[in-house]
Amino acid sequence: MKVFVTERLPEEGLRILTASGVCEVTMWDSDSNVTKAELLKGLDGVDGIICLLGDKIDPAVLDAAGPNLKVISTMSVGVDHLDLVEIKKRGIRVGHTPDVLTGATAELAIALLLAAARRIPEGVEMVKRGERGGVLWMCGYGLSDSTVGIVGLGRIGFAIAQRLVPFGVKRLLYSGRTAKPQAAEVNGEFVPLDTLASESDFVVVTCPLTPETRGMCDEAFFSKMKPTAVFVNVSRGAVVNQEDLYEALSGGEIAAAGLDVTTPEPFPTNHPLLSLTNCVVLPHIGSATYSTRGTMAALAAQNLLGGLQGADMPCELAF
Ligand code: NAP
Ligand code: GLV
Repeated sequence: MKVFVTERLPEEGLRILTASGVCEVTMWDSDSNVTKAELLKGLDGVDGIICLLGDKIDPAVLDAAGPNLKVISTMSVGVDHLDLVEIKKRGIRVGHTPDVLTGATAELAIALLLAAARRIPEGVEMVKRGERGGVLWMCGYGLSDSTVGIVGLGRIGFAIAQRLVPFGVKRLLYSGRTAKPQAAEVNGEFVPLDTLASESDFVVVTCPLTPETRGMCDEAFFSKMKPTAVFVNVSRGAVVNQEDLYEALSGGEIAAAGLDVTTPEPFPTNHPLLSLTNCVVLPHIGSATYSTRGTMAALAAQNLLGGLQGADMPCELAF
């Protein structure tokens, strides 16, 4: 069977594919991302695809692969880059990589929260420029005795909440479609989104991108937040209206923001948000530890093999 891998797959995944003897692998072996044209060419007649979240799997891509395509294995937990309606219609199975990246992403979210709240990148620049100020110079906001609001208390949201408890957070609020029984472990209070926005000192967004969450953090949302509050997004860029976020940050409606995800990615270097000292932007590196990426690659390979052989997949998406 023929398989196309849209990026250099870490060794942990490649080894599994090679040892299986089940498929012939063609991999996009380059530091630059595969172009749409190269993707369409590489997919011709394949039985399986291993992709990442930057690869939009739309009808054109599915058509390029053709009727042999049995499985799409994405090296991500999020699946908003996949046209699931079309994929389902064609009877193609989907694998993804939940859980194995939860810890790494939660750690990054906390690093980003602290970087934005305590102005760490700005502080680094001050040292390089030899600047110095008074007692309130470079002050920020701390987690002790604070209220943290988590939008979407799923795997990653809950892992963030668990890691925040030892920082001395006083109240932990969360919003979502349904209350979560595990919230009791972190004294989480299920509240409407508006309450979360208006009562939190830190808002952390960890929900998936869906039609319901697209553009959810907009002017109306930011206007409810405290002027001293810090906004953090590790979900998907499109959950945020970035023009409204720029206005909120530059107009002092909120204190600071940390974004691991943006629209688009990579983020244009001349984007207005990058001109703000109170906005810390990262290049979508939530799961980027060597061990996590290796484990994700192994899981993606196992998912692919299960799908190719009509067998169980360790993490098959139910959709
Ligand atoms: P998950 O376990 O499915 O958690 C998602 C949570 O969001 C669920 O609790 C869900 O609640 C909630 N949710 C759904 N719709 C919502 C809404 N309208 N408002 C508020 N909450 C809502 O997924 P996960 O593993 O934690 O991953 C979450 C997302 O993080 C992924 O989809 C991906 O976009 C992003 N992610 C980013 C990185 C990164 O590198 N920055 C890494 C991994 C994942 P219900 O169960 O009630 O629907
Ligand atoms: C990363 O953003 C993922 O969805 O795995």
